Amino acid sequence: MEWSTEKRYLPYEKWSAKTLLKLQSQASNSPYQLHYHIRPKSGLLNDPNGFSYFNNEWHVFYQSYPFGPVHGLKSWEHCVSKDLVHWKDLGTAIYPDTELDSHGAYSGSAKVIDNKLFLMYTGNARDAEWIRHPHQMGAFMDKNNHIEKLPNSLIEQPQHTTDHFRDPQILEHNGKYYCILGAQDKATKTGKIALFEAKDIKGPWHDLGYIDFTNEEMGYMIECPNLVFIDEKPVLIFCPQGLDKATVKYENIYPNMVLVGDKFDFKSAQFDSKNPIQNLDDGFDVYATQPFNAPDGKVYALSWVGLPDLTYPTDIENWSGCYSQVKELSLKNGQLIQKPVSTIKNLRQEEVNFTGELETKNQYELKLEVAASQKTTLHIAADEANTESLKLHIDTTNGELILDRQNSGFTVNEKYGTKRAIKLPKNTTLDLDIFVDHSLIEVFVNDGEHVLTARFFPKKGSNKLLIDENIKFKGQYWEMADI
Ligand code: FRU
Repeated sequence: MEWSTEKRYLPYEKWSAKTLLKLQSQASNSPYQLHYHIRPKSGLLNDPNGFSYFNNEWHVFYQSYPFGPVHGLKSWEHCVSKDLVHWKDLGTAIYPDTELDSHGAYSGSAKVIDNKLFLMYTGNARDAEWIRHPHQMGAFMDKNNHIEKLPNSLIEQPQHTTDHFRDPQILEHNGKYYCILGAQDKATKTGKIALFEAKDIKGPWHDLGYIDFTNEEMGYMIECPNLVFIDEKPVLIFCPQGLDKATVKYENIYPNMVLVGDKFDFKSAQFDSKNPIQNLDDGFDVYATQPFNAPDGKVYALSWVGLPDLTYPTDIENWSGCYSQVKELSLKNGQLIQKPVSTIKNLRQEEVNFTGELETKNQYELKLEVAASQKTTLHIAADEANTESLKLHIDTTNGELILDRQNSGFTVNEKYGTKRAIKLPKNTTLDLDIFVDHSLIEVFVNDGEHVLTARFFPKKGSNKLLIDENIKFKGQYWEMADI
């Protein structure tokens, strides 16, 4: 199908209910469909937005283009959960239906204010010359999930940025509101994180300049910046597009990075850190991760498993993208730790002892403990003859783990490589907690010291799980329930 600009920006009401229903059924009947992760009801899902806790429920909204597997006119689709695992899709919450968000209700965040959930997002508007005008918008959602948009934009594009100025994260500190935004500096065309402050959520908002967190150039644009506090340490999670690979090594088209700091001063926008900027995820497809400081004192994060400007094999089925499971973030010796959310255990079915080979439904959790000085390959979604599989090459002698997507079924963006490798301590036991959901894999390594997340697309009937050599390991396997 030809996706002209005109078609991508066709107002929602111009699409027929019949078309939408057809797209929804196509997405839900796909063999690649996720069964225990958030996935689009139809069309394309990208960034998680407004991840929050309000009215005794967890909320997350997803960037949605419901009419196809492309980036078109975006809206926010609302999902709720009681346990961070079972999510219910309540449908579209923010439509791109005003002058200020006419070309997309872009990414943003949420905060409980005065017994309502305040949503802040970027209204993407374009004029007749197709020039972009980003408006930072506000909306209040009440306990009936009814949303009222504020009529005026809260923050307009400052003089010192280009029109790439979006993705507000709303924060509260010492009785004031703060907002950080992804930006492109006008003079240098480099990626920045802008900081604004207000006494009243409705403004006026004051420009505090860019956050000073590095002396390095951060590519040409930073998308989806987020600041959370873990054990009182500030942690920045952000997507510096076009980042020089000599500054931080990465292999994906665009990176999702993390920087653990020592101190953040809201007034001076100074972020002190002695740590390096690192990849948040060591796999293939994580982007636009949205963490948040939850009222239970924990820090949770959700990632889009999909990347901008790339295509995926499900495009021919008219849908694309999914989310990671909720991850719980913590710090250990200055390093970010990401663990599966504890309630994911509620999905476990009967425990099975994994001794080296199993027929699966490609919907499971596998806990694997590999002894020191072992070398093997774990095959995921292997075909009958094991000529094709998604592979995890494990070497506990040399401390190496490789996720290998080559020859795992349909190819996925091979231009950006087919393997992702990480270094681990040598000659020690390796702990893996692996989650497979049809076309998604999440590998948590050594209790969350690394995560490797990827989409993969096995051919029909490829559903074997097996381990190559007769090595020393312990394996526990659970089929996972649908959500
Ligand atoms: C990141 C992003 C954001 C923007 C949104 C639009 O993937 O480009 O910067 O707000 O997607 O869908």
